[in-house]
Amino acid sequence: MPEFTLHFPPDFRWGTATSAHQVEGNNTNNDWWRWEQEEGHILRGHRSGRACDWWERAEEDFDRAAAMHQNAHRLSVEWSRIEPQDGVWDEAALERYRTMVQGLRQRGIEPMVTLHHFTNPLWLADMGGWEREEVVIPRFRRFVRRVVEALGDLVDLWCTLNEMNVYAVQGYLMGVWPPGKQDFGLTMRVLRTMLRAHAAAYEAIHQVQPEARVGIAHAMIIFDPANPGSPLDRWAARQQDKLFNQAILDALLRGRLPLLGGGPFLRGVRGTLDWIGLNYYTRRMVAFDRREAKALFGRNFIKEGAEQSDGGYGEVYPKGLFRLLRRLSRYGLPLYVTENGLPDADDDQRPRFLITHLRQLWKALQGNIPVYGYYHWSLVDNFEWAEGWTLRFGLIEVDPETQERRMRPSGELYGEICRANAITHEMVARYAPEVMERLFPG
Ligand code: FCB
Repeated sequence: MPEFTLHFPPDFRWGTATSAHQVEGNNTNNDWWRWEQEEGHILRGHRSGRACDWWERAEEDFDRAAAMHQNAHRLSVEWSRIEPQDGVWDEAALERYRTMVQGLRQRGIEPMVTLHHFTNPLWLADMGGWEREEVVIPRFRRFVRRVVEALGDLVDLWCTLNEMNVYAVQGYLMGVWPPGKQDFGLTMRVLRTMLRAHAAAYEAIHQVQPEARVGIAHAMIIFDPANPGSPLDRWAARQQDKLFNQAILDALLRGRLPLLGGGPFLRGVRGTLDWIGLNYYTRRMVAFDRREAKALFGRNFIKEGAEQSDGGYGEVYPKGLFRLLRRLSRYGLPLYVTENGLPDADDDQRPRFLITHLRQLWKALQGNIPVYGYYHWSLVDNFEWAEGWTLRFGLIEVDPETQERRMRPSGELYGEICRANAITHEMVARYAPEVMERLFPG
C-alpha cells in the first residue's frame, strides 16, 4: 500500500473546547448549581462540585494541552462569577480570567472565549432569565462589554452564545435542564431572545474592539429519514432539521425565523456573524409518527447496527461532519469546528473517531471549504450536565475525587496530529489499523 499523509493548512488551529461550569468547580452562584442540588435532576445524583478544579489550577491542564502541541483553546467565562449581583462586578474574577487567557497565550495557545455556555447567575434566573428579553438583553450586553473591555487586549476571537437550540430545547421543551419547563411557545420565545441578545453582543463587542471576530457555536445533528423512500419520513426529518439546525442560521444570515416569520423582532439580527462555529456529534434517524406532536411528528432513533458511543449518546457518523461543513460553506463565512467528540470512557473508539472525523474535515478542506480550526470536546473529562460524570469526553481522563489525570491513547494520538499538522499512514496503522483499508483503499 502506498504511504500517504493528510496535510492540513499551515495556520490550522488545533485545539480543544471546555466550558466554565463543567471544569471550574464551585460555581455556586448559578442556576445549574442550584439544579444539581435538587433531587432527580442529575443521573446518579452527581454534582459538578470541584469539577476539574480549573478555578484554582487550570494552568496545569494548559501545560498538558501545550505538551500536546495544541495551539488553540475554546473556554467560557462564568457570568455569575463576574457579576455576582445585578450590576455588581467582581474585579478579582475578571483578573482570574485575565491570568487564564494570558496563560494560554504564553503557551502558544490562542484563546477563543465563549460568553454564555448554558449557565445563568441566580439573580438573573430569578428575574425570569431568557424568558424576559427586556431583562436579559440589556444585562447581557452590559456583561459582554465588561468582559471585552477586560480581556480585549488578549482575546479577539469571541463566541457569544453556545448552542441556543440545545439550551432552549433542553430547558424549555424537554424540561430536563433548568428551568425545567415544557412549553413550545416559551421555547420559541427563548430562541428569539437569544438571537437578539447575540445581535446586541455582536454590536457591543465590535464597538469596544473593531477588529474582533465574533461568531456562535451552533449545534447541528444530522436528521436522516428512517426510510428514504417514504415521503412522510422525509417530511418529518426535514421538519426537525428546519427547527433544530436551520432556523438559527436563517435568522442570523437571512433575517427569517421559520414558524415565527421575519417580522420586527428580528430587526438587527441579520448579518451579525463573522464566522460560524459547528458543534457536531451525531446523527439521528427519523420516522414519521403521528403521536410525536412535540417532536414535530418525528420519532428519533439510532440507526440499527451503527457504531454507538457510551451511554446511548448516539451514532458515530463521521460523514456527517463533511455533510454539515459543505452545507455551511454556502454562506461564504469562515468556519470552525467548535466542538466534536464522543463519550468513551475506555477510549476504545476515540482514536478511530479522531482519524475518521478529521479525514472528513480534511476532505472538506480539499474542496476549498474554509475551515480554520478544530476544537475537540474535550481536553479533560468534565461535568456533563444532566449526565453528571457518567459520560467521559476527555482526551485526558480525570478522577473528580482525587483530581488525578491520565492521558488516554487518543490524547497521545491527538498530540501527534497537532504536532505533525497532519495525519500520517503510520498513525493510522498504530492507532486504528481497522479503518486503513476502508479509508485509504489501495
Ligand atoms: C455540547 C455542549 C458541551 C458538552 C458537549 C458534550 O452540547 O455544548 O457543553 O456538554 O455537548
